[in-house]
Amino acid sequence: MVCLGNICRSPLAEGIMKEKMKRLVLPCFIDSAGTGGWHAGKLPDQWSIDVAGKHGINLSSQRARQIQMEDLDTFDLIFTMDQSVHKDVLSIAENKDQEEKIYLFLDYAGSSNAPIVPDPYWGQTKEFEATYRLIDQACDQIIARLKKEFL
Ligand code: 4NP
Repeated sequence: MVCLGNICRSPLAEGIMKEKMKRLVLPCFIDSAGTGGWHAGKLPDQWSIDVAGKHGINLSSQRARQIQMEDLDTFDLIFTMDQSVHKDVLSIAENKDQEEKIYLFLDYAGSSNAPIVPDPYWGQTKEFEATYRLIDQACDQIIARLKKEFL
């Protein structure tokens, strides 16, 4: 799960997807990163921690990190939160195998809206709650697709 700073959107996507996979007993390794490294080593944004906590998901063990080229080999699927992040992740890919793993998160989920998870960075409870709901729904759609394609 990749966003810009790895403190707002992708930590939520990581936490939500991990929780769903755990409940379904599906053995997947899920992680998140940012295209930027400014927040490396830091906890997720407090608003993300709070909104996730309200839904029973604890993000406090997460620490921000910058995506590395090796991630494109380590992971089978790379989900980007918006077009700008998508372009930046594609730009570090070194071969077709890596490029073909990179999907816009909402595109992969089959969302009928614009495939952008809006950045709630400047927002408060309302924006973070909306981000949570959007990511939560997309995770359900992605799990349904993964089950169909891989199980
Ligand atoms: P994120 O949000 O990409 O969802 O983690 C942002 C986090 C930090 C910044 C921008 C967006 N920033 O400019 O530091």
